[in-house]
Amino acid sequence: MRAIFFSFFLASFLWGSYPLKSYKLHCLSCHGKRGVAMVLPSDKAAIQWKRFFARKKHTPALSIGEKEEAILLKFMEEHAADSDRPTVPGL
Ligand code: HEC
Repeated sequence: MRAIFFSFFLASFLWGSYPLKSYKLHCLSCHGKRGVAMVLPSDKAAIQWKRFFARKKHTPALSIGEKEEAILLKFMEEHAADSDRPTVPGL
């Protein structure tokens, strides 16, 4: 029983923090540094983030795999300007 609880805790912990890590790695590696403007999920509404990733017009071109992109889009949508949680703890 304890093992089940523990793995559930571990899974939700890992899943909960992974999208934030991905965003820091794939977006904040440039944004918020060396004169590149900061980008926050709350900068755009969920629909705008959807369009942002669908358009693929970001310059410089983003080299993110499809799976990673889906994780990032979900993260941006969850904390978008029109979401329930626009503030991200730890940002
Ligand atoms: C290789 C560096 C780099 C990475 C990685 C990067 N960006 Fe950018 N991004 C830029 C630069 C440079 C600009 C141009 C504007 C500027 O200089 O502030 C820009 C512009 C933007 C803009 C405004 C223009 C537009 O296309 O709407 C948004 C929004 C944006 N980035 C979001 C993101 C997100 C979200 C990620 C992560 C998935 C990301 N960026 C990753 C360098 C980067």
